[in-house]
Amino acid sequence: MNDKNIEQELIPVMTTEHNLTCYEEAYYNFKWEDIEKEFSWSRTGKVNAAYEALDRHVDEGLGDKLALLFSDETREESYTFAEMKTLTNKFGNVLRSLGITKGDRVFIFMPRSPELYTAFIGSIKIGAIVGPLFEAFMETAVKDRLLDSEAIAIVTTPKLKERIPLAELPALKHVIVVGEKGQLGERELSFEILMEEASDQLEIEWVDREDGMQLHYTSGSTGKPKGVLHVHNAMLQHFQTGKWVLDLRQDDIYWCTADPGWVTGTAYGIWAPWLNGVTTVVRGGRFSPDDWYQTIEKNRVNVWYSAPTAFRMLMAVGDDITTKFDLSSLRHVLSVGEPLNAEVVRWGLKVYRKRIHDTWWMTETGAQMICNYPSMPIKPGSMGKPFPGIYAAIVDDQGNELPPYTMGNLALRTPWPSMMRRIWNNPNKYDEYFRLEPWYISGDSAYKDEDGYFWFQGRVDDVINTSGERVGPFEVESKLVEHPAVAEAGVIGKPDPLRGEIIKAFIALREGYQPSEQLIEEIKNFVKRGMAAHAAPREIEFRDKLPKTRSGKIMRRVLKAWELGLPTGDLSTMED
Ligand code: WTA
Repeated sequence: MNDKNIEQELIPVMTTEHNLTCYEEAYYNFKWEDIEKEFSWSRTGKVNAAYEALDRHVDEGLGDKLALLFSDETREESYTFAEMKTLTNKFGNVLRSLGITKGDRVFIFMPRSPELYTAFIGSIKIGAIVGPLFEAFMETAVKDRLLDSEAIAIVTTPKLKERIPLAELPALKHVIVVGEKGQLGERELSFEILMEEASDQLEIEWVDREDGMQLHYTSGSTGKPKGVLHVHNAMLQHFQTGKWVLDLRQDDIYWCTADPGWVTGTAYGIWAPWLNGVTTVVRGGRFSPDDWYQTIEKNRVNVWYSAPTAFRMLMAVGDDITTKFDLSSLRHVLSVGEPLNAEVVRWGLKVYRKRIHDTWWMTETGAQMICNYPSMPIKPGSMGKPFPGIYAAIVDDQGNELPPYTMGNLALRTPWPSMMRRIWNNPNKYDEYFRLEPWYISGDSAYKDEDGYFWFQGRVDDVINTSGERVGPFEVESKLVEHPAVAEAGVIGKPDPLRGEIIKAFIALREGYQPSEQLIEEIKNFVKRGMAAHAAPREIEFRDKLPKTRSGKIMRRVLKAWELGLPTGDLSTMED
């Protein structure tokens, strides 16, 4: 296919089935109030997102429809909406029997499994606030989050429970262990025994739309990870973006590759499909091109939501592999989390014969905000246009809107249904995002073109995005200086063709330590063991001294300039 043909395929094919046939019309006529009418609570006043995701479909006669198609290396199971309703009822009763009530924080720390999804929705059914954690987290990362949120219970596995430092977590009363075959330890309970004893009839906790539902910890440029709180009201946006962006249709098989430890894995791995009554695929285990293509082939996946690093890795193994699998079921492909290179979009057209639709949003926004829609032409490299009901703009540092093609702060006019409602224990951090009324300031820089498409340019702050994972340089630096050899550390994101960015650490050693390959490995492992593998620097460079301000802050911008061979700019605040 020559380039001209490719560009033509970027123009959408309209289908009568699709319900966002004209973006402009939808954008100008849209009202969130109209979406509320889709939910029973607009009539009964009784709200719980978990009811809308599972029970409602059973009440409407769809109980036998498949909700979850789960598989990993050892298991292959499917669950209907009725079965998920029963399981989550039971788990709700389990929590109630432990005295857990509305507003309590329940964490989930385990690999993807049907039990994870059961615990997630079951907790929300009784009004608890769920905090999902990546299985990759090591002790420090787990401890920070459980301490900050004062979690009362955690659902985990025999292997992962070793990373929960009970002695330092007095508020954590219950450790519910899935699949424990040995002895139960202090504060531990068996998930299976509790579930067996629990009734499958549950009185759902009806909550307020503004009551807390989930807590996702994410990184900023300073301080420890922050707990971003989302409320039940977010369901409006999860539901409607599921329709118009994911283009979910009743008979679809949908696969979101994200782990629920990341907001994409809850908003679009659970809520969007289930609020729409759509069958969702969950594949456990590690990424491998064969495994992923097989997952699409075997489940006949129609809608596939993944991330740029994954697409780049699939691209890197070559085009031939795609011909070994039957990918003809794919109708719609989407991406989120990092800039989606124009090159990847073109490659997607060539090998899948599909456009990859980029979507932009953040943990803090709770749901998709700027997207490419099936009914709209794609400009490769652009994130697309704001979702109906959302007003996005580029503003200067005073909050004034800037004209097209001018780079500035990507901002969103407040509020919107899935907007975060709090940073746990940190109102000041929360207020910082909203300092330029009426805007929410994203921390991303971008520009808008004359057609209203947004183009991502980078982060305004030092936050690193490696393979779509948000990593705060301060957290990594704090861990590094805990190592006995490290006197000072400065951490930056270094551009990388596959991962977007990789983490690079500049380190000044303490007296008596010499740079060596062995020390580099040791320091990398130190971060891996303490935090998580993805937070460990892939590159370490030793320097006698690091650039600092007179107040002692490491000047990451100077490190970055060193790395990229660019001018270091204004150094007037640097110490001698
Ligand atoms: C980046 C939750 C470019 C961006 C989904 C944002 C993107 C951060 C895109 C949020 C995109 C996300 N193009 N950059 N389509 N989507 N980002 O909260 O910098 O883990 O601020 O993502 O990822 O990261 P988070």
